[in-house]
Amino acid sequence: MANSKNRTSIFTIILTLLFSFTTAKSPTFYRTMSPTSLGLKKEKLSHLHFFFHDILSGPNPTAVRVVQPQNTSSTLFGFMSMADDPLTAGPEQGSKLVGKAQGIYGSAAQEEIGLLMIMNFVFCEGKYNGSTLSLLGRNTVFSTVREMPIVGGSGLFRFARGYAQAKTHTLDFKTGDAIVEYNVYVFHY
Ligand SMILES: *[C@@H]1O[C@H](CO)[C@@H](O)[C@H](O)[C@H]1NC(C)=O
Ligand SMILES: *[C@@H]1O[C@H](CO)[C@@H](O)[C@H](O)[C@H]1NC(C)=O
Repeated sequence: MANSKNRTSIFTIILTLLFSFTTAKSPTFYRTMSPTSLGLKKEKLSHLHFFFHDILSGPNPTAVRVVQPQNTSSTLFGFMSMADDPLTAGPEQGSKLVGKAQGIYGSAAQEEIGLLMIMNFVFCEGKYNGSTLSLLGRNTVFSTVREMPIVGGSGLFRFARGYAQAKTHTLDFKTGDAIVEYNVYVFHY
């Protein structure tokens, strides 16, 4: 009787020790911190203006089709292209390069022309050289102005959020080549 009681209490002690040990050792994987400790001071709003060149024709296309649906519908539903499109300061092809739009677009709508856009804008000019903005949105390319969310960024665009407005500058119906004007508004630090 006494023995089993002793055993029970020893067991309890061991269990208690074990639990307190594991609780004490358990690492926390989160903490709150002050934004200033990451060097974040005041949030600002930036406006970026550039032209996006999506060239499908010629010997050096900037976008290539990577998925071709079996049956091509009038909305091209299911196609996907991978793009590495130049972004320039002005609308001309020889205008100053300010970055690239790298990503995927494809037809995600069966009843109208509506693209899913998944793009990183990688800038190569001025203080934003090396910084990126990520766009994820719906692009109804025949609308006058299409609005798409900017969901994040890197480098000087850390914590970025905002929106892009795309407006077709020129579209060659024969080749599909397009130059699109982008106005991007983002909050960042
Ligand atoms: C594709 O088109 C063919 C011929 O018109 C048709 O027989 C087939 O069912 C279609 N497939 C799909 C997935 O729509
Ligand atoms: C942008 O950054 C890259 C890599 O650091 C550098 O090679 C290039 O010269 C820079 N371009 C401009 C225009 O500052």
